[in-house]
Amino acid sequence: MLLTVDAHRIMDRLQKLGSIGQVPDIGLWRRPYTKAYRESMDLLTSWMKEAGLAVRHDAIGNLIGSLPGNKTEGGIVCTGSHLDTVKNGGKFDGALGIVVAIEVVQVLKNQCGNPDFPIEVIAFIGEEGSWFPYGCFGSRAMVGELSEDDLQWTNDEGITLAEAMRQEGYNPESIQEAHLLDHEVKAFIELHIEQGRILYDANIPVGIVQSIVGLRQIKITIKGRADHAGTTPMNIRYDPMVAAAEMITATTELVRKTDHMGVITFGQLLVVPNMANVIAEEVELVADIRHPDLHVLNKICQDVQNICKSIAQRWSLEVTSSVVVDNVPVDMDPEIVNLVTYCANQLGIPYQSLYSGAGHDAMILGRHYPTGMIFVPSRAGRSHCPEEWTDVQDIEKGTQVLYRVLYELAYN
Ligand code: HGY
Ligand code: MN
Ligand code: MN
Repeated sequence: MLLTVDAHRIMDRLQKLGSIGQVPDIGLWRRPYTKAYRESMDLLTSWMKEAGLAVRHDAIGNLIGSLPGNKTEGGIVCTGSHLDTVKNGGKFDGALGIVVAIEVVQVLKNQCGNPDFPIEVIAFIGEEGSWFPYGCFGSRAMVGELSEDDLQWTNDEGITLAEAMRQEGYNPESIQEAHLLDHEVKAFIELHIEQGRILYDANIPVGIVQSIVGLRQIKITIKGRADHAGTTPMNIRYDPMVAAAEMITATTELVRKTDHMGVITFGQLLVVPNMANVIAEEVELVADIRHPDLHVLNKICQDVQNICKSIAQRWSLEVTSSVVVDNVPVDMDPEIVNLVTYCANQLGIPYQSLYSGAGHDAMILGRHYPTGMIFVPSRAGRSHCPEEWTDVQDIEKGTQVLYRVLYELAYN
């Protein structure tokens, strides 16, 4: 049963959605609880309604399009992805999984009528952690992992998550109502771009995700002493910038030597007072560390913290570190993986099994419900940048697989 996929409509919608949230000098940044984010929700709402879905948003701002099912028990089938983006992000990360899901559910409804099990298309808020320091707050709220304390997370503009929610008309006190927990979830399936280059290099259109990498972010704060850049001799400085540079180099070397699966990234650096003619008072850097194996991830994190401590000691500087994001590796549900594999085989679509080096809302839902992911290739593996791109014929194949998987999950 081949779906007549309108992949060009999907591509057009992605370009349209991707034009919302363009910030001067930054690029695409669809930040939660902003006018642009609201506009993108409104656009998705119109497409969801056009597809015949009942649309609502939950207490924290996840947007949900529902197709009722004939059965009242056995749970709901959920699909979708996140609507927010990183700063200077691409038009496919997250958005693709939502737009394709709307397309597929619209065709399923038109071709097969209402399903046995209800289907929900979800546009999650806050996956990227690009405005509030910790990601996946929409999906965490949905599974009941978000606490009242978490609403006090403060971003670098000094705004708490609760304040940002209130400014947009949401009521932080009611996040408990965001839960999916009050109804059973039969399965969650997320279509997403690979964001790496495994599929692209192998020229394979579909990836079947086996697991999602463990991801830990460690904030390292090095306290030095502010002094004059010109009058302070080199041998009596307490310069945290020099220590930070050594820490970045030494820990990167350590991970490079571990194995080909471990990665460490220092994409965020805060220097106080951040002036060229002042020796820094303090430097804060965040190490984003990932590995598919929890034991290896733990070992790398321990070694990184030890290395930072010994470098700080050598420079007589004070260093503190704290884990600010901690997601253990999550295996996809074997039955869902088998179903996706069965569907790809039935459709004669070539696929490759792989693990995800990126984090996703599926890693949160996957801790609670049977969860799977379908990947499509990213051109040259580029993502989290305007160059992010997936060819329309790959979108078409990924959509075919999602269509068949949702059919098998909801119509049987
Ligand atoms: O960081 C990640 O892997 C995801 O894009 N939030
Ligand atoms: Mn992302
Ligand atoms: Mn993503």
